Amino acid sequence: MTTGSPDKRKIILSGMRPTGRLHWGNYTGALANWIELQDEYTCYFMVADWHVLTTALDRADQIQLNSREMFLDWLGAGLDPDGSVLFIQSQVKEHAELYLLLAMLISMGRLERNPTFKEQIRDLNLGGEISYGHLGYPVLQAADIMAYQAHAVPVGEDQLPHLELTREMARKFNRLFGEVFPEPEPLVTKFARFPGTDGKRMSKSMGNTIEIAASPEEIVAKIKPAFTDPARLRRSDPGNPEVCAVYTWYQKFLPQEAEATASECRSAQRGCVDCKLKLAAGVTEYFAPLRERRAEYAADPKKLDEIIAHGCQQARAVAAGTMEDVHGAMGLG
Ligand code: TRP
Ligand code: SF4
Repeated sequence: MTTGSPDKRKIILSGMRPTGRLHWGNYTGALANWIELQDEYTCYFMVADWHVLTTALDRADQIQLNSREMFLDWLGAGLDPDGSVLFIQSQVKEHAELYLLLAMLISMGRLERNPTFKEQIRDLNLGGEISYGHLGYPVLQAADIMAYQAHAVPVGEDQLPHLELTREMARKFNRLFGEVFPEPEPLVTKFARFPGTDGKRMSKSMGNTIEIAASPEEIVAKIKPAFTDPARLRRSDPGNPEVCAVYTWYQKFLPQEAEATASECRSAQRGCVDCKLKLAAGVTEYFAPLRERRAEYAADPKKLDEIIAHGCQQARAVAAGTMEDVHGAMGLG
């Protein structure tokens, strides 16, 4: 593939549901990766606010605030509103039209067999109350991706079934109506499951998160009681860093300290209290530029409005172009 001139770069799109302030798991699992991809690709990054409605209709009133908080985290972390297109799904109505058309290309059975859907039904305890929109979640996601004729989609492993469905719809469309869509490839974010303060996977629903924009005081307060090696009862006991969440955080945020941490832990030269305070200081420094940049954007809500409006406008222009291709191919002119 040709690189060189910027407009020949491959296109990627990814999205996050607006859950509010992002935590360390969101950062290592997605955001940090997006930031790196910005130089190599033409990037579209989307706040998937419609997607929230499929599973949290009762919390619709929180979506707008959560979207803004997430946007601030994105900008603070270094997503570049001048180089990438940062936008909000609900502000680009073309997604809804493409969603409707793609819905004709996929069977009910295929959507019902989607493993993510089956898992959600089980976990959410929704019983018989499953909306038509919830079943269609991956169709909407496909529309998000295809509206920008994206070549690749950075996602975590959990999203692979959705991407497979997208590929199927792209193939079927092209077969029936002519080549309009690339078959988007997954760019799988490689990250070991990232532990929360209780040692289990960091996730907002578990209440074990630390936010990327946490203040230095919050960071200390969250790290102090965090899960370590449960077998290390006394300060003089040798520890096992491999089972300790704190050590994983060192590996991610202070890799230059990881080796010394592991050996001083194993030989009981270092106690957990010191180990945690040292980590807290290091992480505070790691995220300081993010916190500062975020605070600048947060202090100027009008500027944030403009950035969001500009991104949505850019996205609309591209999505409208795709829809012209779609109308032409399908004979809906
Ligand atoms: N389903 C994704 C998630 O849960 C969010 C999402 C919506 C998305 N649309 C997308 C991801 C398009 C990648 C591409 O996190
Ligand atoms: Fe974990 Fe550090 Fe304690 Fe070892 S010394 S168990 S790495 S907190």
